[in-house]
Amino acid sequence: MTTVSSGAGVVADAVIPAPVDLEPGEGVLDLTAVTIDAPDDVTARLAGELLAASGAAVGPRDGVPVVLTQDPAAGPAGSESPERYTLTVTADGATVAAPERAGLLHGVRTLRQLLNAGRGEAGGALEVGAVVVRDAPRYPWRGLSLDVVRHWFGPEDLRAVVDLVGSYKMNRLHLHLSDDQGWRLDIPSRPALTKLSSQGAVSGAPGGFLSTDEYRELQEYAAEREIVIVPEIDVPGHVNAATHAYGELMPSGEATEAYDGIEVGFSKLHFDLPATEPFLRDVFTDVARMTLGPWVHFGGDEVLMMEADEFGRFVVLCQELIAEAGKTPVAWQEAAGSVDDSVDDSVDDSVDDSVDDRADGEGPVLVRPGTLLQYWDTRPDPAPLVRAARAGAKFVLSPADRAYLDMKYTPEHPLGLHWAGFVELRDSYDWDPATVIDGLPESAVEGVSAAVWTETMLNRDDLFSMLLPRLAAVAETAWSRPEAKDWASFRDRVAIEAATWRREGSTYHPTPQIDW
Ligand code: ACM
Repeated sequence: MTTVSSGAGVVADAVIPAPVDLEPGEGVLDLTAVTIDAPDDVTARLAGELLAASGAAVGPRDGVPVVLTQDPAAGPAGSESPERYTLTVTADGATVAAPERAGLLHGVRTLRQLLNAGRGEAGGALEVGAVVVRDAPRYPWRGLSLDVVRHWFGPEDLRAVVDLVGSYKMNRLHLHLSDDQGWRLDIPSRPALTKLSSQGAVSGAPGGFLSTDEYRELQEYAAEREIVIVPEIDVPGHVNAATHAYGELMPSGEATEAYDGIEVGFSKLHFDLPATEPFLRDVFTDVARMTLGPWVHFGGDEVLMMEADEFGRFVVLCQELIAEAGKTPVAWQEAAGSVDDSVDDSVDDSVDDSVDDRADGEGPVLVRPGTLLQYWDTRPDPAPLVRAARAGAKFVLSPADRAYLDMKYTPEHPLGLHWAGFVELRDSYDWDPATVIDGLPESAVEGVSAAVWTETMLNRDDLFSMLLPRLAAVAETAWSRPEAKDWASFRDRVAIEAATWRREGSTYHPTPQIDW
């Protein structure tokens, strides 16, 4: 792809993620004043907000028409994605056609990027060159997984993250809501979780949690933008916040101490304790009841001190509880027996044996058909994952060396960790989800999720400086087909996009890989 100027300051090709097809036309549309016509009021309001944020005056009459219209024939030839759309801009107005609401919003997002590109950092003329964009995503799941435990990010930050995710046409925000350091979602049947375990975070930082009302409001805010919130309650490891609140989950009956460090792998539930199953049933039933979207994530990662049998019983039970509550289970790859057998056994001598046992890939497939597995650890043998796919599991790919946006960009980078290496912008860009797991059929790939763990991120600026620009690279990897991806073009488009980040005051990392 090339960058095309079709008028003074008007950049026709500035779209991230790269669309399937973009054809510049003749003429320029002036979007100084806009009149929106949409199938419903919420869509009209959102389209108006997006264009107004870029400087357009959005009014009921007298502006140039921006028409959103439902049309099953829209999108690239042959695409059956429910999110497909066609955006047509002429000198007289703009039309977004799409079979469903998601496509209408995607079309407006594309229009907004084209408008922003022309405006630049200084906020120049509100003009867009004539163009036809026909577009559809490669994968249905395009998301961000965000840890709100290690540091707490409240509703206002989370709405900003929803907006950011949506701006790159991502449609899932997975929230990691429980871990050793804190519990971040009110569970009405288990009030001690937030009463006793929500107030801390890493290194004594302040905690917090979402009330049931805040959780519903956040989900509604996201749903209006066609983004689904996926809640994660991480079990049977990463549970010190739970065992701190409910001592009955420990063999001793004694609550554990609060924890504000960043080690992993030391806490666990005990399947045979009488309190364990009722606890899981209460928590997953409440979470499912409070969740608008179809998925509930039960974690399953880094359970370093548990025999294979016991771990397997947790995997079976959690899937059962979530399915009984009417949702589709999601879990980290370990639920399929995919664990790294080289883990450090310094915590306990039994670690190596139990992990080896699970890593041999010989056990029964415990993952149900339709369960989603989130792939993050690139070290283990992929055979158990391929077997899970054969049994009907689907995969969301978050390979840590590409998609973990808490990895440092470079050794000198002040924020982030580096256990999976250094992840520069190009590392987040140059990969193909279809070939990440050896032997996995592409039909088993549901999509891609960036992930960000917040041990070192204290506030929104820290978080956004790790997300941008790499989130844009992961978004393009999730949305755009390999033939539409091009590093040189992406670099140009990121530089154009960054003018908007600066104009809107959004923090980003000025990696030397881009000519800013
Ligand atoms: C993970 O990074 N432990 C999923």
